[in-house]
Amino acid sequence: MTFSVAFNWLIALFSLVPFIRFGDDWKKSLQLPPKDTRVRTSDVTSTKGNEFEDYCLKRELLMGIFEMGWEKPSPIQEESIPIALSGRDILARAKNGTGKSGAYLIPMLERIDLKKDYIQAVVMVPTRELALQVSQISIQISKHLGGVKVMATTGGTNLRDDIMRLDETVHVVIATPGRILDLIKKGVAKVDRVQMMVMDEADKLLSQDFVVLIEDIISFLGKGRQILLYSATFPISVQKFMVSSHLHKPYEINLMEELTLKGITQYYAYVTERQKVHCLNTLFSRLQINQSIIFCNSTQRVELLAKKITQLGYSCFYIHAKMMQEYRNRVFHDFRNGLCRNLVCTDLFTRGIDIQAVNVVINFDFPKNAETYLHRIGRSGRFGHLGLAINLITSEDRFNLKSIEDQLVTDIKPIPGSIDKSLYVALPGDRPVHQETWRRP
Ligand SMILES: *[C@@H]1O[C@H](CO)[C@@H](O)[C@H](O)[C@H]1NC(C)=O
Ligand SMILES: *[C@@H]1O[C@H](CO)[C@@H](O)[C@H](O)[C@H]1NC(C)=O
Ligand SMILES: *[C@@H]1O[C@H](CO)[C@@H](O)[C@H](O)[C@H]1NC(C)=O
Ligand SMILES: [Mg+2]
Repeated sequence: MTFSVAFNWLIALFSLVPFIRFGDDWKKSLQLPPKDTRVRTSDVTSTKGNEFEDYCLKRELLMGIFEMGWEKPSPIQEESIPIALSGRDILARAKNGTGKSGAYLIPMLERIDLKKDYIQAVVMVPTRELALQVSQISIQISKHLGGVKVMATTGGTNLRDDIMRLDETVHVVIATPGRILDLIKKGVAKVDRVQMMVMDEADKLLSQDFVVLIEDIISFLGKGRQILLYSATFPISVQKFMVSSHLHKPYEINLMEELTLKGITQYYAYVTERQKVHCLNTLFSRLQINQSIIFCNSTQRVELLAKKITQLGYSCFYIHAKMMQEYRNRVFHDFRNGLCRNLVCTDLFTRGIDIQAVNVVINFDFPKNAETYLHRIGRSGRFGHLGLAINLITSEDRFNLKSIEDQLVTDIKPIPGSIDKSLYVALPGDRPVHQETWRRP
């Protein structure tokens, strides 16, 4: 607390009295990468106007930051860095691509004491790819710090190599939960003096697959440890963790708009698996669809359904996770531009659908959890327009339907014989082209 107050004073002092700043000569020797001139969205540009130099970081760390091509802190970095430096727990809602790793790596590296040869910080990530990406960044920004030892350890690699590596000095470990727990239990990774633990993509880390491991890992950490938690979504699992005793009065950061089901009328129709296509056909002919997105639960089912829809005489695009990212982006872009009326896909959107013209979303296969449901159906509040969500429910989905309704505190009603157009057709009078006119010759 007192440290944090003193710290804020320091920041104030430095910004009020610019001439106290050190000479800027060191900047001349920086090896800066070419400037990134791509267009950036407001989640990385709407800042308070702080500078990295405002945080009293070690000059060597600043050099690494600037050489990464990071010129100014992003919003999540502005929120996180001073708080993390003060030692307080953080609970942040932020998506990736917004400077999240810098938000925790900068304060973490600043606080590593090189005179001590034990593990001082642990970053938990859900996947090997993310572990490698984060360790790459930390190695780059700590390059001038002279000897911060960063180690990435994940499942699927040789355990012996990791054990040998831990015999030497390691200051920062970036790990997936299973592997680090293994090393801790073997007594190889000693984490009792860890002062900072980060959970990146915490929604995944606290999912059923991992949560027990995470609890276990935390039990081995030292008493005064600080936890920084970053998550794009806040499902029940994350909320449970928040109210547990692991976090101590966390500083909350929320840089994302909530997804909402407001304005979306949700229906279900009981069907058997074999009736699904017929049911979809009926929906197509009865509803006034401007654009629709239809979700299936697997790549194969997406391809099959897209074929069926085309055979029925409706235009459709499809995308799924096994398609090349570039191609996927193009299809999505074309769909967004209205080149096609229907899109069949698997769960690809990490955020809700932000296409105004989509007024109907159909769960051809009903999702298993509430988070997925929300991502498929929900819209961010700022769009605030009407829409229809229709769920095809087989007997196997009954339980999930009830459970998702409960978790999201929402109402999914049986589909009525006819649906009032004012619930989902944007402008009365300005009627979208009827589905039939989109039929292929
Ligand atoms: C961003 O985060 C989401 C959810 O946490 C994840 O599914 C996705 O793969 C991540 N994307 C990248 C590019 O890391
Ligand atoms: C997808 O849905 C079909 C039909 O409901 C079901 O048979 C299949 O097991 C589901 N697959 C997955 C991966 O959930
Ligand atoms: C209907 O879709 C078209 C093409 O995507 C779009 O240009 C138009 O604005 C949409 N109309 C409404 C009312 O959303
Ligand atoms: Mg994320």
